[in-house]
Amino acid sequence: METLPSVTQANQTMTFNYPNRHLQISVLTPEIIRVFEFRGDKGQSYAVEGNKQQPTTFTLNKNDNHYELKTDSLLLKIDADQHIDVYDQADHQLITDYRGSRSPLDRGIDEAHKQLVEAEGHTVSQSVNGDDNGYYEVVKSLAANEHLYGLGDKTGYLDKRGYEYDNWNTDNPAPQMENFTKLYKSIPVMYGLKNGYPYGLFFDNPYRSHFDMGKENSNYYFYSAVAGNLDYYILGGQTFKDVVTNYTYLTGRVPLPQKWTLGYQQSRWGYSISQQEVETIADHLKKSKLPCDAIHFDIDYMRGYRVFTWNNEAYQNDPKAFLQNLKQRGIKIVTIIDPGVKKDPDYSVYSEGVKKGYFVKTPDGQVYINKVWPGDSAFPDFGRPEVRNWWAQNTKFLTDIGVAGIWNDMNEPASFDGDIPDNIVFSDQELKSAHQKMHNVYGHNMAKATYEGLKTHQGKRPYIITRAAYAGTQKYSTVWTGDNRSLWAHIQMMIPQLCNLGLSGFAFAGTDIGGFGSDTTPELLTRWIEAAIFSPLLRNHSAMGTRHQEPWSFGEPTLSIYRRYLQLRYHLIPYMYDLFAQETKTGLPIMRPLVLNYDDDPRVTDIDNEFMVGNSLLVAPIVEKSQTKRLVYLPAGQWIDFWNHREYTGGKDIVVNAPLDKLPLFVQKNAILPWGQQVDHISEDPDDEMTFHVWGDEGHYDHYQDNGMDFNYQKGEFNRYAISVNRNQVSVKLLHQGFKSVYRKIKVVLPEKTVTLTYEPRTSRYL
Ligand code: GLC
Repeated sequence: METLPSVTQANQTMTFNYPNRHLQISVLTPEIIRVFEFRGDKGQSYAVEGNKQQPTTFTLNKNDNHYELKTDSLLLKIDADQHIDVYDQADHQLITDYRGSRSPLDRGIDEAHKQLVEAEGHTVSQSVNGDDNGYYEVVKSLAANEHLYGLGDKTGYLDKRGYEYDNWNTDNPAPQMENFTKLYKSIPVMYGLKNGYPYGLFFDNPYRSHFDMGKENSNYYFYSAVAGNLDYYILGGQTFKDVVTNYTYLTGRVPLPQKWTLGYQQSRWGYSISQQEVETIADHLKKSKLPCDAIHFDIDYMRGYRVFTWNNEAYQNDPKAFLQNLKQRGIKIVTIIDPGVKKDPDYSVYSEGVKKGYFVKTPDGQVYINKVWPGDSAFPDFGRPEVRNWWAQNTKFLTDIGVAGIWNDMNEPASFDGDIPDNIVFSDQELKSAHQKMHNVYGHNMAKATYEGLKTHQGKRPYIITRAAYAGTQKYSTVWTGDNRSLWAHIQMMIPQLCNLGLSGFAFAGTDIGGFGSDTTPELLTRWIEAAIFSPLLRNHSAMGTRHQEPWSFGEPTLSIYRRYLQLRYHLIPYMYDLFAQETKTGLPIMRPLVLNYDDDPRVTDIDNEFMVGNSLLVAPIVEKSQTKRLVYLPAGQWIDFWNHREYTGGKDIVVNAPLDKLPLFVQKNAILPWGQQVDHISEDPDDEMTFHVWGDEGHYDHYQDNGMDFNYQKGEFNRYAISVNRNQVSVKLLHQGFKSVYRKIKVVLPEKTVTLTYEPRTSRYL
């Protein structure tokens, strides 16, 4: 046993002076503590913006063999051997440094099969060749009863225990299965539920990193990184929800979206090749009476895949008029933008970028070129504020034409001509850096640039979808999970992916409904629209060359079922919008794993095929081919079948029938849900009235309303309504009145009667 180190304290930061290192521990809030060791990286965090430290009381005491750092919520024991052990205020173990040494898996690598084994990609978990002296690892004990979550949209199951993952944003077109260690995003936040007690750990380091979630050995999990500072946050909280609220306090929350972005969106690689093609889709949507708010334009609308250009000839030389016309029909356009700028001296974006030095460079100072869709392309150096500004200005080209949102793709960045070497010169703000550090935040910085551009040019809440992301990107962009396939395995994976994304701060997320690659089937498409109908981002997208999967592609009954679920979605958009209004304050996702809401129920720790929407809806979709009934676990409480109003007592499994047209859906008893009118598009005109359904005979609901478009709500232009029902007596109060279009009428539908209240302007009351 070594002797305890000396400690120096400055404000809320304590430095533990060990012989070989200085470990800083900072108290940010009673529930957030940062552990930091400077290891040569001078950059700032991309995930955490601004000062998150709040004045917090805490004590530091020296005991015989350890220090005790105590806040109102957390207790840290720091010993002479550099262990940091974390307990909650009732002394439950949360995070414990592992005392033994790691026992790497014996993969039996011999020279002859080295390549084969390396293709599996297990390189980050150990110091590469032993000569990478920036490498470090953090190893924590794993209890027998401990479940692990988070990490964004990594493949596999909800509970990450037993798997390993890499953080290196990657575009790999092969089918994404649970053996994939890396995808397009790096969101290094993980949550643990140790013997039922929740905590979180956020490792803020954009370098290539690795999480082994107890695969190598079921007694520990570990995080390792090839370089960068040791910089992690201990997240506490009474409940799992509190821990997520703390994480999103730290890295930011999804801002309130424009309301129409919660509508249905139709996409396919190929539509935007011509105006006629897009028109056909819009006509079909209308003819088929399918509610829809947007059509997405993939790379085909551009001139030779040159970003910020338009192939005008295919749009009667007036794309603006065409977009205006679609808008009048209720359809907005979202265009794709990739980062790769085509190498073409006659193309202004390229020549300007070269002249101003905006592209990343080789170590000898040449513009670095790799191949993407446009062929040879240069890559904007998004780490630099000046380059982000330039990009933001370029988005004006699109907003001037009337584009409503921007879809950022290929921003890992993907490169077709081999990996971008680690030493390509990228900027880290104003510092000279390298691809090795800036890779995982490339998409993040591109999204940030796009956000600034849209905000300036549109004056509305920016709608951006990005494929690549880092922790914190949720402040600027929504995400989708990239190139899935029309496979049953992928509809299954959607649920844990979106739930873990939600836990990781990304409350606004979706998958390509129907599957992007491979051919879908009518049954798969039907089950997919049912299963995805509450995913915040609701987009059907597919790859060029695959079987068409528009809702009408398979005739009946697919079309009618599809329409029925889109209608259900539109009725419930006011509920989802309310959840977003709450999310901006709590960071809690819309689509949630059951374990988030019921963290004390051991039955829900690894449910992969059910989820909740807020607190009130439980969704149990069919995600198996040919299945027409399933078991549904209902947590404690009373539940009402949405379709036949039958009541169940929870805390058990029930069997439900689910023929092809039925999504098993349950409402918590006494929940009140807003029920918007049946519409084909989310209108820019405010709703004149609102209906609320009461799933019982008492309850309370807090409803939010604003203009659904711009930032005026930040100036108080919103309304909040309290709907209360007590023994069938209804009351509606305006808790805040700042938005001029208050509902003229409010209908409250109870099981036995409907109560209609009218707004009385003189008294601002509902009577
Ligand atoms: C990427 C995207 C996909 C898009 C395609 C063509 O594969 O993930 O959504 O359709 O590129 O732009």
